[in-house]
Amino acid sequence: MKTLTLVVMALALTSAVSLAAEPSHQYVGVKVCAMCHRTPKSGEQFQKWEASKHSQAYKTLLTPAAKKIAEAKGIKGSPADSPECLQCHVTAYNAPASQLGPRFSKEDGVQCETCHGPGKDYMKMDIMKNEKEAVAHGLTLLSVKDGSAQKFCETCHNKKSPTFKEFDFKTMWAKIAHPVPQQ
Ligand code: HEC
Ligand code: HEC
Ligand code: HEC
Ligand code: HEC
Repeated sequence: MKTLTLVVMALALTSAVSLAAEPSHQYVGVKVCAMCHRTPKSGEQFQKWEASKHSQAYKTLLTPAAKKIAEAKGIKGSPADSPECLQCHVTAYNAPASQLGPRFSKEDGVQCETCHGPGKDYMKMDIMKNEKEAVAHGLTLLSVKDGSAQKFCETCHNKKSPTFKEFDFKTMWAKIAHPVPQQ
């Protein structure tokens, strides 16, 4: 009886481990999303992102202002190499190199895939057009209406940010909104 229980437990454990070890979707980088998301019909999400500060989030870490903030926190070396800063200033900061596609660049800062999930498997046209399929292939759906978007913003826009003052979701969302135009 005891052995049987152990065997069952061991089996349960193995399947839990193999689930957790399932290969993760790859990050392709904003330039790949831009292939389809820069037309007026799509809503020019790429241009809107490019004009936003999220596209500059990595480059900000190379400025004298960033260096000063890092020094005050006792960080030696460049803030652009420090996980303490990168965690909020780039996409996929702690993902293994194998999860980063050839066109992915951390220098593009806070990219589409920070909020929408790694896109390699959902970015194909037939999958993208089908929300259910896209989600099954790694798309993260955030919503302004149900509050999930605000919650997600606040994983970076919070007191752990050395320059944080406040985060007013409505004002901040208005600065980066990128809807698909109504037909
Ligand atoms: C091959 C073209 C193509 C590529 C590449 C592509 N998309 Fe899309 N995407 C589409 C189309 C088409 C839609 C459907 C648009 C619509 O609803 O009118 C869509 C919809 C979306 C939606 C809305 C999904 C929903 O159901 O609410 C998001 C979010 C999105 N794309 C993000 C991305 C991101 C992030 C990338 C890069 C990782 C990307 N897309 C790459 C074509 C593409
Ligand atoms: C991965 C972390 C991260 C997430 C998630 C995130 N942001 Fe940001 N955001 C940043 C960083 C870093 C900056 C500063 C970039 C810079 O100035 O170089 C920034 C800057 C901004 C700015 C520019 C602020 C200004 O003064 O104009 C707006 C607006 C903004 N974010 C809105 C949002 C909204 C809305 C969400 C959620 C839908 C969000 N952000 C989610 C990291 C994040
Ligand atoms: C918890 C997430 C988070 C961490 C960690 C973080 N930042 Fe930021 N950073 C942000 C966000 C969000 C903004 C934009 C809004 C704000 O100032 O809160 C920002 C803005 C900035 C700005 C621009 C400020 C301005 O007024 O334009 C600089 C410079 C900066 N961060 C440097 C750093 C440095 C250096 C580190 C590491 C010591 C760091 N950040 C760590 C989230 C973070
Ligand atoms: C800071 C987070 C953030 C970033 C960066 C971001 N998005 Fe989004 N995106 C959202 C949220 C939140 C929504 C849901 C909006 C809503 O509920 O109305 C959304 C919605 C969308 C939609 C659907 C719009 C609609 O009207 O149905 C598309 C398409 C999309 N994003 C594409 C992109 C692409 C492409 C990029 C990069 C060029 C990008 N997003 C960057 C947070 C982000």
